[in-house]
Amino acid sequence: MVIQPEWSSSCGLFYGDNLLIMQELKKQGYEGQFSMIYFDGPFNSGWVFSSYSEELKEEIVDPWNEWKTIRNFFNPGDYRNDYRKRIEVAKHLLADEGILVFHTSQKEGHYLKVILDEVFGERQFLGEVVWKFANGPVYQKAQFGLNHETLFFYAKSEAFTKKAEKCYSSVWDDIGTYDDMQAENTYYATQKPEKLIERILDMTTEAGALVGDFYCGSGTLPLVAQKMNRRWIASDNSRIAIQTAVKRLSTLGIEASVHQIIEDFNLEYLQEKEYTKRSEIPFSLYELKGLKRELGDVPIKINAFDYTDDIDLIGDHSVVYQFIMPGRSCKSSRVPRPVPAGDGLRVSAPFEWIYFHLKHGKIEEYNYHVDQGEMEDRVKRSLLRLNGNWIKEKKRYDHYERWIDIFGHSYVVRKERKEGENWARQLLLLEG
Ligand SMILES: C[S@@+](CC[C@H](N)C(=O)[O-])C[C@H]1O[C@@H](n2cnc3c(N)ncnc32)[C@H](O)[C@@H]1O
Repeated sequence: MVIQPEWSSSCGLFYGDNLLIMQELKKQGYEGQFSMIYFDGPFNSGWVFSSYSEELKEEIVDPWNEWKTIRNFFNPGDYRNDYRKRIEVAKHLLADEGILVFHTSQKEGHYLKVILDEVFGERQFLGEVVWKFANGPVYQKAQFGLNHETLFFYAKSEAFTKKAEKCYSSVWDDIGTYDDMQAENTYYATQKPEKLIERILDMTTEAGALVGDFYCGSGTLPLVAQKMNRRWIASDNSRIAIQTAVKRLSTLGIEASVHQIIEDFNLEYLQEKEYTKRSEIPFSLYELKGLKRELGDVPIKINAFDYTDDIDLIGDHSVVYQFIMPGRSCKSSRVPRPVPAGDGLRVSAPFEWIYFHLKHGKIEEYNYHVDQGEMEDRVKRSLLRLNGNWIKEKKRYDHYERWIDIFGHSYVVRKERKEGENWARQLLLLEG
């Protein structure tokens, strides 16, 4: 595995799955280097989030995240297991005097606390902060208006010492949430307020410290860390998140280059004229170049791409999805998901999906003559055309829109955005 573009600094933004990114950082000498790691990952609320794209003037949804959201909602064990793996690596990355700050909510928080206790040790639990939204409950109609989120603080070892002069209480009620963000609002659905992150950084680190945010979303932590003179490494597996973070950092005059972990060309995968691999990282242009270097223009067979356990593609084309969150009546919807055009393909990002289709056209054949130049061109052209979006066509009607995605699936989209709510959410309903 390699980091592209080349990586030689301790500030940086990564695009991709944070498990691989953290594992790679560990290999590259970052073990024991972080003073603080902040986890603000998915809450498993069942919500499918969309984000507004400035360029397209449209809300867009990442199909793979959407699918994973749904899978986890029905299989909370998978969700918790995903976290366990990431908490374990994060612990390795922390310095002895380092601290993990884990942001969660009431639905999963108690289960995740048990996992944190197991990984860090119960005695390393420093405390729980209830962030009580200064601007009131989020779901007004609910039995219990949702009014708080939770932060768990875990020290890596006894070596952790309190940093801030001030002793903060365990209920923070002076920080407003989404509606309160005003100028700092990027409209990224799950953006956290700068003030919250400032406080976390103040409590847990000193100037010059290296901090990590591996679910960075709109980039609040990198931005605030930069302002507070902390070094930072951040990641997200959503293109929109990364674009938003880059844009936000540019307001401080920082040109963040975006790094990715990609599979190196591995000669061991090549036998005769077949390249066969099983890996969590999609087959890349980089590998293809390696193959071409090795074999010239000789036609070869490329097998597999059965590479991620994060997305389990089952036979059905949609799942029944129920909202059981406070404030919502229990409503079932058919939610569509992308399906492969053949067997055994598992894809972790829309880009890779497009890429795969462009490369191979007919995936049943498993025997391809690769024209690298043409393929690169087609990938570039398509990316330009799709602009990272998976929706190919939209038709607008009075009360709804019909979307056709790049796989030919059709959706009816209803706007859920309400007056006065500045976050964007949509429920996708399968049509036909
Ligand atoms: C709650 S949001 C983070 C919001 C962020 N703190 C902010 O202020 O904008 C969670 C983020 O985690 C990202 N994410 C979820 N699973 C991930 C994974 N396995 N690797 C990297 N990022 C992930 C999502 O794309 C999303 O942007």
